[in-house]
Amino acid sequence: MGSDTVAGNPVIAIPPAGTGTLPRVMPSRVPSAPEHTLLGLPEMDSQHDYLYTLFARLIETHTTASMKALLAEIEGMLDFHFTSEEHLIRHYKVPGFAEHQADHEQAATAFLAGLAAFERGELNPARLRATLTGWLSEHARSADQPYADRIRRQRREAGWQ
Ligand SMILES: [Fe+2]
Ligand SMILES: [Fe+2]
Repeated sequence: MGSDTVAGNPVIAIPPAGTGTLPRVMPSRVPSAPEHTLLGLPEMDSQHDYLYTLFARLIETHTTASMKALLAEIEGMLDFHFTSEEHLIRHYKVPGFAEHQADHEQAATAFLAGLAAFERGELNPARLRATLTGWLSEHARSADQPYADRIRRQRREAGWQ
């Protein structure tokens, strides 16, 4: 276990599952999160908000056991969010479903790579946080916002909103 830096982020080696204690990462060394896009769909905005909160906890979690629990929560909530959002997109027959789903799978792959790194005792929590936060921020702006605009318009035209 040791520390180094990659692209300005501390590299942290987490001890393999057991009784390890994680080295602390000073929050001031971690880049601040980018601006978060609000979609105007409360049911999706609250899920995004919780995901950002979980991602931020990656750099506040200092034991192997709590990191394992946090990663399990992130895995479950990513799955919940993607499934939920994909149902919403299909329900409103928004075009571009396959591309949207493929983008979700890209994030899932990045997360699973982080999970595998954790199992090997090589997780860099700051890098995983930056990857997931950056992905969600960009995806929400470029992929989620267009479907959200369309759904809000459909609801408005139907008089439901
Ligand atoms: Fe999405
Ligand atoms: Fe989303």
